[in-house]
Amino acid sequence: MPRFDVTIAGELNLDLILYGLPDELPPERELLADRMMLTLGSSSAIVAHNLSALGSRVGFQSLIGDDSLGQIALDRLREGGVDVSRVRRVHGSTTTGLTVILQRPGSRNILTYAGTIAEFSIQDIDFDSLLDSRHFHMSSLYLHRALLPDMPELFRRVKEAGLSLSLDTNDDPQDHWEGGLKELLKYVDVFLPNAREATRITGTTDTEAAVKRLAEMVPLVVAKLGTKGALAQRGAERFASPALQITAVDPVGAGDSFDAGFLHEYLRGSDLTTCLASGNRTGALSVTRPGGTEAFRDKEYREGFLRQH
Ligand SMILES: Nc1ncnc2c1ncn2[C@@H]1O[C@H](COP(=O)(O)OP(=O)(O)OP(=O)(O)O)[C@@H](O)[C@H]1O
Ligand SMILES: [Mg+2]
Repeated sequence: MPRFDVTIAGELNLDLILYGLPDELPPERELLADRMMLTLGSSSAIVAHNLSALGSRVGFQSLIGDDSLGQIALDRLREGGVDVSRVRRVHGSTTTGLTVILQRPGSRNILTYAGTIAEFSIQDIDFDSLLDSRHFHMSSLYLHRALLPDMPELFRRVKEAGLSLSLDTNDDPQDHWEGGLKELLKYVDVFLPNAREATRITGTTDTEAAVKRLAEMVPLVVAKLGTKGALAQRGAERFASPALQITAVDPVGAGDSFDAGFLHEYLRGSDLTTCLASGNRTGALSVTRPGGTEAFRDKEYREGFLRQH
């Protein structure tokens, strides 16, 4: 029996979220936020943390800098029960990445310093540990600049070793959607884009057409649709599941939390309707608290919410 249910190799950093900023951000002025939160960020780490909170056995591989922000992120993941023994620390000038989120009444800005995220390469991966798992998940494809050219090799080895594989590209900051994505999809069992990503990747204008097109490339497409829930296609079969009706506090990490809830059930062999409902439940749980893992860290709150919905 493999040691892990899921291994994830990817980015590990904190999110610094400032709430209550004015809509206009004039330069050279001191602008006051009314609340802030420093919390575990990065798609890969949020998926890992929340999968572990749900009860999956999770191994995590990453690269952080020799700095206190990296240490805080690492501690958070460890406290969440994730195996972080294969997270490496570099002692050069590059520090751990950081995302600053400016939350304003009508919109938000997401500013990322990639730091060690962009330096994490195939040489940093411990394949013996990574392949001692039932499943491999990859997030934030386009932030992994050093790893991207070797991603086909990584995916090929994962599939050759008999693991199942899921991918959530998240956004492409350049909005090009290249980097051999179509080639990579040949190895992917479960593809987890949001609606915008699905249409950008396929060059279509509506989610319906995008999901149909993607279902010709991968065995299972699961599209996240925010307050509209989620849509899946497996071959010619279509599945849909509505979002929960809840009071949303913070959208950060909803998609990653959906991935965690979906994959947790998928790896238990549950049917697709159950997997989708689970993703919608954990996506909703995430938005009821700030950041991507706060709602999952609080065991009593998490279990209460999941029992109730
Ligand atoms: N306001 C909301 N109310 C209820 N459920 C929500 C809400 N927002 C998100 N969700 C749930 O979370 C899931 C993922 O959200 P979304 O579609 O925004 O993903 P995403 O765009 O990938 O997010 P992220 O920005 O974290 O990458 C949705 O499919 C839904 O189930
Ligand atoms: Mg996403």
